[in-house]
This record gives sequence, structure tokens and C-alpha cells, in this order.
Amino acid sequence: MAKNAVITGWGYYAPSRVLTNADLERIVDTTDEWITSRTGIKERRIASDGETTSTMSVRAARAALEKAHLRAQDVQLVIVGTASPDYLFPATACLVQAEIGAMKAGAFDVEAACTSFISALAIARGLIVSGVYENALVIGAETLSRLLNWKDRSTCVLFGDGAGACVLEATNASVGIESTVLHGDGSKGELLMVPAGASKLPASADTIERGLHFITMAGGEVFKLAVKSMADAAEEAIAEAGLSLDDIDVLIPHQANIRIIEGVAKRLHFPMEKVFVNIQRYGNTSAASIPIAICEAEATGRLRRGDKVLLVAFGGGFTWGAAVLEWFGAHDGMRPPSPLERAAQVLEDVVERVRPA
Ligand code: ACO
Repeated sequence: MAKNAVITGWGYYAPSRVLTNADLERIVDTTDEWITSRTGIKERRIASDGETTSTMSVRAARAALEKAHLRAQDVQLVIVGTASPDYLFPATACLVQAEIGAMKAGAFDVEAACTSFISALAIARGLIVSGVYENALVIGAETLSRLLNWKDRSTCVLFGDGAGACVLEATNASVGIESTVLHGDGSKGELLMVPAGASKLPASADTIERGLHFITMAGGEVFKLAVKSMADAAEEAIAEAGLSLDDIDVLIPHQANIRIIEGVAKRLHFPMEKVFVNIQRYGNTSAASIPIAICEAEATGRLRRGDKVLLVAFGGGFTWGAAVLEWFGAHDGMRPPSPLERAAQVLEDVVERVRPA
């Protein structure tokens, strides 16, 4: 049985279409000043017509596999965390699995709104540490722009689209994910939801007329509970890892709102200089926000080998959770060839030796 599960590959995809606050001023009754001061968001990415949660996931997954030097056919598990899947079923993870050619992998989706990525990470880690799998591809991806009411200024300015992926592998080294905690409170589900389109309220002319296929949210309630819950989960995950807040080098929170992020840091007495923030460029990409932030933190030198990293999220459900990990980074060397590749190499050598000069 492996001792730990470690992130060995990461990648993300953000649609090229940028929607700025100035663009939104032309769509709804809002201002750049209101959005910036209340949320910290300046712009967000919006999927183009041909893009979906699965197509963005595929782009992120391929980048993560390349970084890990892991071939798609050797992937054992694909989990997609999302609240905006391509379909109710088949699972988006199955679409990704087929598209990348991970045909030996199990595949399923996890839906815990903005906590979906941490939830998927916790599941994958558990299955790796218990010896069930050697590796897993964990993706957080959303196309929330398709679930937004573009006439509702209280929600449409907040969200964006994108995907991020991490490869998790088994290791006996003392590195990788050190703790995960997950929580939920279903009694508050109605404060943030998409009311129609599933089995309770199937699509009908009436549900469409009433706009019930869009995200509805009681923003103030979400705000208050998010700060407290994220701070509590962070403390719990740190204690479970046997660490203290002083040991944490980087906090990568779910990017919901700069004021929520600052509220969590303040509650924890954690310096904002050690918090990674990119909400200004992406808005709230829900399940995708943490894996995209991991990629950007690494690319900008904010994540270095040996760093203790705290991930924390809160979302609809309500759901919330946190994870503590020691960052390892990419494999230093290439993966050894598979038995098939080795056999092909031997054959090539034989052919080379018997070929007349
Ligand atoms: N532009 C201009 N005015 C707006 C806009 C807008 N885009 N949206 C709402 N308003 C108005 C409202 O109509 C209201 O007007 P009224 O007072 O005349 O009725 C007023 O602004 C509300 O203002 P505030 O109370 O100051 O707004 P608040 O500070 O609560 O900020 C916000 C609202 C940004 C939604 C905040 O509550 C929030 O961030 N909540 C968390 C929501 C969130 O992040 N959800 C994401 C999903 S969960 C997660 O990811 C953690």
C-alpha cells in the first residue's frame, strides 16, 4: 500500500473570450466600481459556442498528463468535479476519458459546487492511499456562463468558465497530500441553487418562463457562512496534518470573492502576502478555481518544492472543505517505458543488428 498520494502533474485551460466589467456595464445595470469593490473581479473568461465543460477538461487534462509524463492509457481513474456538466448523464468524466483515450480508467463526476475539486481530491487520495489505484486524474471544470441569468446583475457578474486538472500518483515518500476535510449542511441548500432542470422540477415551458434553470443566490448569507466555514475547515485540516498555521507557505483558497478571501485570512490571522489570488482575471470559476490557481501559483514561482500548501473551499449545498499538502512538483526524470514499449525497443534493436550493412 502506498504511503501517500502526490500531485505530479497539473494543467489548466481558460477560454480565450474575455468579458470585462466594462462589457458587463453594457449588458446589465452595474459598474466596474461596484463589481471591483464588492468582489475584486475585473474580468472573467466565457466559453465560446463549441466549448463545454468536457472540452475544457480535456485541454487541462492533457496538459497535466504531459507534465506528469503519464500516458492517458495508463490512467486508472478520472474524476471530474463540476456543477455544470455537459449532460445530467453520461458523466463528464466519461466524455473526458473517451476523448483522451484513458480506456482502462474508471470515470465519474463529483458534484459539491465550489467544493467539488477538493472533494474529488479527497476521494482520489483515499483510493490511492488505500491501495485501490496507483494514479488518478482529478479535474475541476465549469461552464457556469450557461447557467447564469444575464439579466440578473446580482449573479451574472460573479462567475466565469474554465478547467484545471491534477494528476495524483502513489508514492512511498513523505510528500504529497497530508490531510483532507469535507463538510456539508444540506439544510441551507436553497440559498444557492439551480432550481429546475433535474428530477424534482423537470424542464417545462413554465420553468423556462420563470427562469428557474439559472443560478439563484442569497449572496449575503453565502458570504457570512463562507468566511467562517472556510476558516474552520482550514484550521481542522492543518491540525489533522499535525501542523500549525505558521508552517503554511501558501494558501490557495477557492476564488469566490476577494472580500471572502480577505475575511478568511483575517479570521485565521494569516498574512495576505502568503495568499494566492487570481480572482481579478477569472471571477468565480467554482470547481475550477483551485486547480487553475495551483497552475498559476506554480508558474509564477509561488509554489516551490517542499512548500506546505493549504487549499480551502466553500460552495452550494452548502459544502466546504480543505486540504493540506506538501508540494513536490513534476517528476525529475521520464517515466520508465511500459512492457510493450520495452518489447518494441528490443525488436527494433534486433532488426538493427540483423540488417545488412
Ligand atoms: N451592480 C450594481 N449593484 C448591484 C449589483 C451589481 N452587479 N448586484 C447587486 N447590486 C445591488 C443590489 O441590488 C442591492 O441594491 P439595493 O440595496 O438597492 O437592494 C445592493 O447592490 C446590495 O449591495 P450590498 O449589500 O452592498 O452587496 P454585498 O456587499 O452583499 O455584495 C455580493 C453582494 C458581492 C453578491 C456578496 O454578497 C457576495 O460576494 N456574496 C458571496 C456570493 C458568492 O461568492 N457566491 C459564489 C458562490 S459560493 C462561493 O463560491 C463561496
